[in-house]
Amino acid sequence: MKNLVALIVLLFLSSCASDILRGDRVTLRNAASFPIGTAASYSQLNTDDSIRAIILKEFNSITPENDMKMYSVMPRSNEFRWEVVDSIVAFCARNDMRLFGHALVWHSSTPRWLTEAGHDSVSLSTFLEEYVTAYVSRYKGVVDGWDVVNEAVTDSAGTLRQTFWYNMLGESYIDQAFIAAHEADPNAILFLNDYNIERDTVKMNATIDLINRLKSRGVPISGIGLQMHTRMDIPNEIIAYSLRKAAETGLQVHLSEVDIIFNRHNDRQGEGEQIYNELTSEMAQEQGEKYMNIADMYRGIVPKDQQYGITLWGFNDRTTWIRPFFKLNDWPAIYDDNLQRKPAFYGLLNGVMD
Ligand code: XIL
Repeated sequence: MKNLVALIVLLFLSSCASDILRGDRVTLRNAASFPIGTAASYSQLNTDDSIRAIILKEFNSITPENDMKMYSVMPRSNEFRWEVVDSIVAFCARNDMRLFGHALVWHSSTPRWLTEAGHDSVSLSTFLEEYVTAYVSRYKGVVDGWDVVNEAVTDSAGTLRQTFWYNMLGESYIDQAFIAAHEADPNAILFLNDYNIERDTVKMNATIDLINRLKSRGVPISGIGLQMHTRMDIPNEIIAYSLRKAAETGLQVHLSEVDIIFNRHNDRQGEGEQIYNELTSEMAQEQGEKYMNIADMYRGIVPKDQQYGITLWGFNDRTTWIRPFFKLNDWPAIYDDNLQRKPAFYGLLNGVMD
C-alpha cells in the first residue's frame, strides 16, 4: 500500500515536472546559473514581435549578429554610425540584458574602403588604435565584454591566419587591439574568439600558444571564446579536451556562437554538403542529447568563476545563418521553423541546470 502511494506521488510529481518543463514557466535564463545569450539583429529586436518575445523570455544576453562589426559601424571612411548600436544598447538596458560586443577586429568584417585605403603599417596601426579607443570608450560600462580579435588562427596549423591585419602589422595587431580596448574600458572582459577550436586540436593548441604569448607580453586578455558552430558527429571527448584546455588558461570561457548541424561544410561560404534532407524525430532527439552534453561539459569542466556564459548563434531554424551562408538545409537551433521549442531546447535546458 505504502509503495502504491509512493508510486502515485512519484507519477504525479513527474507529470507536474514535465508539465512545467513543457510550459513556459521554465526558461533558459531562469534555469542557468550563468548568462544565456543569443545572437540577434537590430531588425529582429525591433520589428519581429514573435522573435523578440522569445528572446525576452529565454535569454539574458545579446550578441548583435552583424550590427557591431566594423563594416556596420564604420561603413564609410572614418565615419562612425552609432544609431543602430545605440538602439541595441537601449533595448538591453530596458530589458536588463547583458550586451556582448562582436567583434572589434575581424578580417571578414573589415570594410573594403579600409583595405583599399593605401595604409602603411604606421597609419594602419594609428587607425586601429583610434577605432578601438573611440568604440570601446563610447560603450564603456555598457558593453560587458568584447570579442576583441576574431578568428586570428589558421585552421589545422600552428600559425596565425594571414589576414589584412596580420600581413600589415604582424602579430602586434592583436596586442594593439587588446591594449587599446583595455585602456578604454578597464572593466570590460576582452576575448580572443575562434571557430572549430572545439574540434581542431591543432588550432586549439595554437590558440593557447598565442594566449600564452599575449600573457607573457602583459597584454590584457581576459577571455577565450569558442564559437562552437559544431556538428553532430564531433566526439564529446574532443570537445571535453578543448574545454579543459580553455579552462586551464584561467580566462573567462565563452561558448560564443553555439549551433549544431547535421550536414557538412568546409567553412567556406556557399560550400555546404547536403547529406540529410529532413529532420527525423530520431535526429531531433539526438540533437537534444548533444545540446545537453555540451552544456553539461561546460558546467562540469569550466570552473564556475570562469563561466562567462553560453550564447547561441540564433535560437531558431527559421532565421539561422547556416542556411543562407552555407546554402544548406539544416536544423541547427533549439527552436524550429515555426518558433516552437525542439528537443534541442529541452536538452540544453537540462544541460544548463545545476
Ligand atoms: C555570420 C552572420 O551570422 C551572418 O549573417 C553573416 O552573413 C556572416 O557572419 N563566425 C562569427 C560570426 O564570428 O560573426 C559569423 O556571423 C559566423 C561565424
